[in-house]
Amino acid sequence: MKGVILAAGKGTRLYPITRHIAKPLLPIANRPTLHYAFDRLREVGIEDICLVVGENEAQMMDALGDGSSLGIRLTYVRQAEPKGLAHAVSFAKEFVGSDSFCLYLGDAMYSDSLAPFARRYEESGCANLNLVKWVPDPSRFGVANLDGERIVKLVEKPSVPESNYAMAGLYFFGPQIWSVLPGLQPSERGEFEITDAIQTLINQGQTVLAGVYEGAWFDTGTLDSFLETTAHLIGEDQLVAEDAHVLGGVGHSVVIGAGAHVSCGVIENSVVLPGSHIRVGGHIRRCILAGRVEADGDLEDQIRWGDSSQ
Ligand code: DAU
Repeated sequence: MKGVILAAGKGTRLYPITRHIAKPLLPIANRPTLHYAFDRLREVGIEDICLVVGENEAQMMDALGDGSSLGIRLTYVRQAEPKGLAHAVSFAKEFVGSDSFCLYLGDAMYSDSLAPFARRYEESGCANLNLVKWVPDPSRFGVANLDGERIVKLVEKPSVPESNYAMAGLYFFGPQIWSVLPGLQPSERGEFEITDAIQTLINQGQTVLAGVYEGAWFDTGTLDSFLETTAHLIGEDQLVAEDAHVLGGVGHSVVIGAGAHVSCGVIENSVVLPGSHIRVGGHIRRCILAGRVEADGDLEDQIRWGDSSQ
């Protein structure tokens, strides 16, 4: 089985930092986001991975190279514009060839192994198996109606969800998917949806299964979710890189990257990226900071790439 990771998004919800650092490379607990995806794929025996990249292509290739230092083999394909997940995956067709593949959304993180789902996919012989997770408010996800283990209906971001099972961003596909993609039409939000591709497989009478995932699942794309993921990884601790310089109090769930200089009253629930220079009079809370940030007062709820004094 091969791996395909979709990493062509622009990460707009973490602007301005993701204007400088490609979202899939943004360090979470001092490791690039994508390294967690590589861990999960390697764990199920996948070493051949295609990265679907966009404008970030050069930065991604510089940072990750051919993957050999990470124990994987990376192939890059370029999606010219982010027109949807089904559009993005179509660029991996040649790479996948006649194999089956695991499709992984680049900003997702999973606390638990994917091995049971890979096994179930293989032994079932189905056309497609998708991770789903019970969530209280599924309307911002693709939503799956289940009949036992089978998915019988899928709707992308419904205003009135018919079930609480969210599509959890991880899919196993056989070659049946390739004949479906060319016939898709853009959805109401103007994207070629992977949900529509899977619904077409269902309509064709193919076997489409759900694997109910019970572990923690994070989408690391917003300030809230980024900090929540960080807190999940480090708990109440502080993760301060050895060569970072910190003057002032450090509270809980704080990450300070390599070579960073931080001087402040107290910092908590925040992430300072490697190489930053931060000087703040009072408190820093719920921030992701990079570059050179100076402020007399407090900072709260901010994503800041500081390149000038304030
Ligand atoms: O997070 C799970 C949800 O992911 C599912 O429940 C939905 O059914 C699925 O459509 C998807 O919804 P999102 O709207 O959250 O997807 P998003 O646009 O955030 O894209 C997910 C990843 O795919 C992200 O890492 C960027 C990448 N991407 C996205 C698009 C639209 C691409 O590489 N190319 C694209 O064209």
